[in-house]
Amino acid sequence: MKNVLLLGMLLLFSGCLKNQWEERLENGDVDFDSQTETTPTNTSGSPVSKSTYTPAVVDGKTIDGKALFKVNCTSCHSASTKRTTGPGLQGVLSRIPGGDWKYNWVRNSTKLIESGDAYANKIFNDYNKSIMTPFPALSNAEIDEILRYADGGQ
Ligand code: HEC
Repeated sequence: MKNVLLLGMLLLFSGCLKNQWEERLENGDVDFDSQTETTPTNTSGSPVSKSTYTPAVVDGKTIDGKALFKVNCTSCHSASTKRTTGPGLQGVLSRIPGGDWKYNWVRNSTKLIESGDAYANKIFNDYNKSIMTPFPALSNAEIDEILRYADGGQ
């Protein structure tokens, strides 16, 4: 009896594993074609991809945009064009306003929206008024690197 129960649990467990895998396949999280994709370029036209992204060294300090992106942003953003909670961030640098916009947005998007900024209000409405977590502690250089990494896609 005990063995039957154990076997049942094992089967259930392996069933779950299979479903997760299938889900990932359906969601396109597993990309078998990545090697044939064209290399994305950033706004300055230089190619940045998974294999070529190297962390920047600013004032002797290494800033790893990929690692920072993984820790802070992947819960809501992909570094591809795939929409999750928020927009996929591949190519993001060519659609957002220039100047300090990216720093103001990432540090406190609500403040930027409330200031009446047109693009901030547009994306806020496009994403059903989901509120992005503010990241007041990220420096300009860190935000630059996170977006340089994500913009290049992976
Ligand atoms: C809790 C979810 C969440 C997290 C975490 C998050 N974001 Fe967002 N982000 C959003 C949503 C949702 C939007 C779309 C606009 C809105 O609803 O405010 C957005 C929009 C953006 C945009 C504008 C994208 C475009 O297409 O114009 C940028 C840039 C951005 N986020 C960067 C980041 C970065 C960098 C991080 C990590 C440091 C991050 N986000 C973490 C939810 C999140």
